[in-house]
Amino acid sequence: MDKLIIEGGMPLQGEVQIAGAKNAALPLMAAALLADGQTTLHNMPSLVDVKTMARVIDWTGAKTTFENGSLTIDASDINRIEAPYELVKTMRASFYMLGALLGRAGEAKVSLPGGCAWGPRPVDIHLSGMRALGAEIELDQGYIIAKGPLRGNNVVLDFPSVGATVNLLLAAVRAEGETVLENVAREPEITSLVSMLNSMGARITGERTSTLKIHGVDSLHAVTETVIPDRIEAGTYLVAAALTAGDVTLKSAEPEHLTMVLAKAAEAGVKFTVTTDGIRVEGRGALRAVDVETAVYPGFPTDMQAQWMTLMTGADGVSLVVDTIYQDRFAHVSELQRLGARVSMKENVARIHGPVRMRGAQVMSTDLRASASLVIAALAAEGTTEISRIYHLDRGYENLESKLEMLGAKIKRVSD
Ligand code: EPU
Repeated sequence: MDKLIIEGGMPLQGEVQIAGAKNAALPLMAAALLADGQTTLHNMPSLVDVKTMARVIDWTGAKTTFENGSLTIDASDINRIEAPYELVKTMRASFYMLGALLGRAGEAKVSLPGGCAWGPRPVDIHLSGMRALGAEIELDQGYIIAKGPLRGNNVVLDFPSVGATVNLLLAAVRAEGETVLENVAREPEITSLVSMLNSMGARITGERTSTLKIHGVDSLHAVTETVIPDRIEAGTYLVAAALTAGDVTLKSAEPEHLTMVLAKAAEAGVKFTVTTDGIRVEGRGALRAVDVETAVYPGFPTDMQAQWMTLMTGADGVSLVVDTIYQDRFAHVSELQRLGARVSMKENVARIHGPVRMRGAQVMSTDLRASASLVIAALAAEGTTEISRIYHLDRGYENLESKLEMLGAKIKRVSD
């Protein structure tokens, strides 16, 4: 297993190209299955999760080709309506195959995704929505077996789940009649999916709002789309620049998708300017303690919670970080403590006392964003940090070491 060795203390300096968003790319890939033809997706990040999704899609008989940041998906022939356990267990987003295959073929057999590093992540909202659209759903040996035909209906989501919104959109666009989805997620990744589906010939209104109206159509056609920039990758480099007192331009970052993160950063004393093609972050001056509480978009993203906590270790005062989306997403706390962070936990509330100058140590990655927070901590810490189990990072950060090296970090990957 690979490790990262990081020698901390260097201010990050220069420009970093923000990649296409993982969480936007995965739903677009699933959507390609709804069209009988060849879809092309540009600005695709080269990530393990994207490769896993491509394998899930290939399993159905569709053909994927990844070249120079563009992915083509030829879904002219689908001969299997299944997403197998071996693939789904490694990546929860492969559960999008439920909506995609129901939409395309009227039936699907998709492995239940199971839990993840920070506790259970149920799919009850996905399934009750599918049932409301007329799907017959059964659980058989760990697989959800779903059968259409689907008919439009009014569906009110119990919670604005990103994944359930994606799945229900994929299922409803080719259902008969009109579907109204209420209390849906409004993340930019959902807006980008709605936009691609409409380009494919779907009839969806209510973009960017919490109610989507879908008028079912008989068929959809293949299109060419570009994946939106990754707001979480941008936020991660923003925090790294600020905590290392660096000066980094986040090229192609979309400030509109980062409103809450930028507002909190400004409150904490992080200096940044929006430029014509991104955001320049200048880590000068002291950082102030600022509380955050995660919420659905446009609230503070849970996917930035761990990185924000790391930033707060260097801020003057006491700050609270509350995760309301995932109550147990705090595996990074004990690792940050190994680096010297002063954090105490009570339920889903972390209390951070700053500023401390962290010192290098051996730490372990536990999940994608927790790992990102450790990388940031290591970049700012005095001395050498060794981060093990870094395969989590390869799921969601494209070329992490080379991007950081270009910014002046002393980082290398070694194999055990
Ligand atoms: N939930 C339910 N029932 C459901 C679905 C969700 O109770 O049927 C609950 C979850 O347990 C959680 C909340 O609803 O408490 C939000 O979950 P959501 O369904 O919105 O999350 P997701 O679709 O599984 C996506 C991202 C995650 C990100 C969350 C929240 C993708 C592929 N994944 O997951 O990203 O944390 O939304 O914003 O888009 C990451 O990139 O590191 C990552 C984990």
